[in-house]
Amino acid sequence: MNIAVIAGDGIGRDVTAEAVKVLGALGEVTGRRPVLEHLPWGADHYLATGETLPANGYDLLRSFDAVLVGALGDPRVPDNRHARDILLGTRFELDLYVNFRPVKLIADALCPLKDRGTKDVDFVVFRENTEGVYVSVGGRFKAGTEDEVAIQEEINTWKGVHRIIRHAFEYAAAHGLTKVCMADKSNAMQQGHALWQRVFKEVAAGYPGITATHQYIDALAMFLVKDPGQYQVIVTNNLFGDIITDIGGALQGGLGMAASGNLHPGKTSLFEPVHGSAPPLAGKNVANPIGAILSTALMLDYLGHDHEARIVERAVSDAVAAGATTTDIGGTLGTSAVGDTIVRAVKSAR
Ligand code: NAD
Ligand code: IPM
Ligand code: MN
Repeated sequence: MNIAVIAGDGIGRDVTAEAVKVLGALGEVTGRRPVLEHLPWGADHYLATGETLPANGYDLLRSFDAVLVGALGDPRVPDNRHARDILLGTRFELDLYVNFRPVKLIADALCPLKDRGTKDVDFVVFRENTEGVYVSVGGRFKAGTEDEVAIQEEINTWKGVHRIIRHAFEYAAAHGLTKVCMADKSNAMQQGHALWQRVFKEVAAGYPGITATHQYIDALAMFLVKDPGQYQVIVTNNLFGDIITDIGGALQGGLGMAASGNLHPGKTSLFEPVHGSAPPLAGKNVANPIGAILSTALMLDYLGHDHEARIVERAVSDAVAAGATTTDIGGTLGTSAVGDTIVRAVKSAR
């Protein structure tokens, strides 16, 4: 495995250090050491050099088996330019159209909802990852005046909508799941989301064993809190998927628990925790590294190393069950001590 590592900014660095430790431990156990190349891209690099990523940056990333990212975002770069190039740019340039965000509660004690537990929070979100409002088509006219006009278009293409919806159904079929829920705002967004409605119905017709339902995104956000047990697979657009997976993070005990994969099946894909760089927590040894560590498990799965992925997941579950966690989820340990605990569990696995 040749892995590019972009720790990035803020707690991205803190949590990535732990994910890297876990990958190293796994290499010791299996005898197959992953080769990691650390890329210094992030706010410091941008502020020092004026370069967000090098001219051949995306080609360089394509030459690895996978990319592991911490987080990008720094208050010294208020327009988030570097994050736009490094993170969103990679999603677009490597055409990582599937943002796979599993929402799985691994211990009842972490559930923020009354009388709910692990059986109620276990679903996956497929977020469209290459279009929507994220393409930044638009512009500002008379910027900075009281006559300013700001236009930000939402792009929905048949190809983009079809491939993410199809992926959601294929995932359900491959995993023995029987329900796919599509969320949009077609009652208000009568052009773009009419496309989602049409394509969802057309694709669903090809999967008679799967119950296809639709919810408006506002209702879905409410039901995620009130009755998350109804979901198995959710598919939605880029922006809505971003928002509801932060809710998903909370359902897993906190944003620090949530993992994700930015995928183009068969091609170099990118794995990262769902959370951001949380500048107030950066460098304080308090950030929860589990979302980053579980993202490496998603990466291992994607690369066909399911046995290794299960070892990492079990090590995380054991640490959580033992209360060996950071304070955000009720423990008393620092970031690196949680990483050490998980590393020990990985090393004792077989
Ligand atoms: P954030 O996810 O960084 O943090 C929000 C809050 O969640 C934090 O204040 C903290 O209370 C909690 N939190 C998040 N991760 C945690 C962890 N691992 N352990 C413990 N608590 C954790 O969101 P934000 O504050 O809105 O954004 C900060 C910066 O990160 C911004 O620049 C934003 O653009 C960027 N961002 C980057 C990514 C990414 O690189 N994938 C994702 C989200 C946000
Ligand atoms: C995420 C993040 C990004 C997004 C930001 C940093 C642009 O919030 O990966 O969830 O909105 O996609
Ligand atoms: Mn987000």
